[in-house]
Amino acid sequence: MREVIRLLVIKLFYKMQEINENLMEKIISLCKRRGFIYQGSEIYGGLAGTWDYGPLGVALKNNVKNSWWKKFVDSRCDMYGIDAAIIMSPEVWKASGHVDTFTDPLVECTKCKRRFREDQLKEHGKCDFCGASVTTPKQFNMMFRTQIGAVEDSSSTVYLRPETAQGMFVNFKNIVNSFHPRLPFGMAQIGKAFRNEITPRDFVFRSREFEQMEIEYFINPIGWEKYFEYWRDEMFEWMDSIGLEISKIHELEVDKNDLAHYSKRTIDFEFDFPFGRKELYGLAYRTNFDLSRHKIDYQDEENKTKITPHVIEPTFGVDRTILALLSGSYREEQLTDVEVRPYLAFKPSIAPIICAVSPLLKNKPELCKYAELVYGKLKNEFGRVMYDDNGNIGKRYRRQDEIGTPWCIVVDFDTLADNTVTIRDRDTGEQTRINKEEVIPYIKERIN
Ligand code: GAP
Repeated sequence: MREVIRLLVIKLFYKMQEINENLMEKIISLCKRRGFIYQGSEIYGGLAGTWDYGPLGVALKNNVKNSWWKKFVDSRCDMYGIDAAIIMSPEVWKASGHVDTFTDPLVECTKCKRRFREDQLKEHGKCDFCGASVTTPKQFNMMFRTQIGAVEDSSSTVYLRPETAQGMFVNFKNIVNSFHPRLPFGMAQIGKAFRNEITPRDFVFRSREFEQMEIEYFINPIGWEKYFEYWRDEMFEWMDSIGLEISKIHELEVDKNDLAHYSKRTIDFEFDFPFGRKELYGLAYRTNFDLSRHKIDYQDEENKTKITPHVIEPTFGVDRTILALLSGSYREEQLTDVEVRPYLAFKPSIAPIICAVSPLLKNKPELCKYAELVYGKLKNEFGRVMYDDNGNIGKRYRRQDEIGTPWCIVVDFDTLADNTVTIRDRDTGEQTRINKEEVIPYIKERIN
């Protein structure tokens, strides 16, 4: 009996794995077909670990970034947004500890010569590809190095930033001098980061060029635990607001031995991706490690003392957010034995397209003219609006469902008589008839 259960569990495990692999394939294919994400440098065979975002991918990313900026910067009085340079002096990275410690254990297969990250091998000491033994690991620094200026020698070496955080630490004094903030206060930044990952994988989950949204919240160390808890709640609130399923998010208290060199405490927020539970975001107590390494202090005006503020750092990967939203929102409705309706159940506030407008028939100028007028008004109001007159109406609905458009508005012959249009809901497929003047309030009410 036990053996039967064991075999059933194994079977179920492989079945789930197959379903999840299929899901990733479906998502990657949808992203390419519909203009969300393409392989970087694709026409030359692709460049591993790089991805290009198409119009819908950019729209989704912008909605995520705008929502983040609105919550964490614009709606607060204690946050200073910056946009620092990507190329930074090597001194920054020496002081931050990245030159010495930002490494991954690299191993090479003794037979096929493929390279792997030792801690990501499926079987310890064995090549993932051919099963032969691998070399003993050597530490590989993940920072991208380049040269600045016309002379190429060691004095011209610079790095592309592997985290946006340092751009904020090195500008701490500038912000204090310009704005005179009192502790606690924060700095925030959204921007590209670069890591020469040994094995980029799982679509945009682990790439070599990606985007981060980071906050460095400067505090007096007494009571740092209170701020840590505060930011933990804020992070959850934002994740929920953009439609990440909270039941798919799990906190992992990082073991003391696994903490980054700057951290005294870190929580990883892991997400149930189709390929397993993996890190989505992080929350770290960086102490005063970075400011003290950059020899930066702060004059506390109240008690006239100089201190080196401590830091709580909530960090968010933009690309992992996109992947979590895509995989978490993907649905399939079984219409008949053979027909399925795939759709992305994005929250309207982050959907790349809020609504699409169509004339019922493309070859009826009076319908097209009316539909264009409705489209113009909606475009003016929401921006993210599409005019779609390609194929028949059923095909248009499917296309919009697949890219996660919450509403489709159709102008038909009744419209010409009574100024009403149909508005169709993506998730239920239900169609409602409303006056054309009610469309904007209808959508506004549901977005908020
Ligand atoms: N400043 C702290 C820091 O950079 P991290 O955990 O190394 O911490 C922060 O990175 C976030 O950046 C991660 O939680 C993840 O969302 C994202 N990230 C890190 N490496 C990535 C990669 N290779 N590809 C895509 N996103 C990545």
